[in-house]
Amino acid sequence: MAKTLVTYFTRTGNTKLVAEAIFGALSGNKTIQPMAEAGDLAPYHLIFAGFPVQTHSVPYPVEVFLKSIPEGQKVALFSTHGSVTGSSLSREALEYASVLVAKAHLVGTFSCRGKVSMRALEVLMQSPEHEAWADMAASAATHPDESDIEDARAFARWIMTLSVQGQYRGL
Ligand SMILES: Cc1cc2nc3c(=O)[nH]c(=O)nc-3n(C[C@H](O)[C@H](O)[C@H](O)COP(=O)(O)O)c2cc1C
Repeated sequence: MAKTLVTYFTRTGNTKLVAEAIFGALSGNKTIQPMAEAGDLAPYHLIFAGFPVQTHSVPYPVEVFLKSIPEGQKVALFSTHGSVTGSSLSREALEYASVLVAKAHLVGTFSCRGKVSMRALEVLMQSPEHEAWADMAASAATHPDESDIEDARAFARWIMTLSVQGQYRGL
């Protein structure tokens, strides 16, 4: 039977919350695991893989994981980020992640904002390369909120619908 994996990398829990929302919205045979414990990917027909944007990009362990996804396997990517949704800062990491899974079959992407810990913000604000997004990050303080979680559920349902229909399109 077709099996779905939801897997995530997280430092402060935001991406895990989104992963759990996606997992909860899925029907059928499914499992959820932190990325480090995902194990053999071969049994899964669809993989939801999520990560936090860090220093404008994809955390290194996530890069390694994404590159390991077998050729032709269906994958849906999701991310959380402190910067404003839709800004180039929030999109670029997801675009880079899409390149990392080029050999797999990317079926959709989702992202939402995630609060940045005060401690991280204080440190990051001191380095010029983080100024651009760190200034935006203050308004992420309430995210992921219920609306983000509902969007994540809708994303999961949409991907599942396409999966049943056997057709995918980037979101
Ligand atoms: C060290 C560090 C670097 C970050 N770099 C960025 C960044 O470049 N752009 C951005 O939008 N958010 C950045 N963030 C914010 C995180 O992407 C955001 O808080 C995310 O929701 C954290 O997810 P997590 O709780 O799953 O770890 C950074 C956070 C930390 C701690």
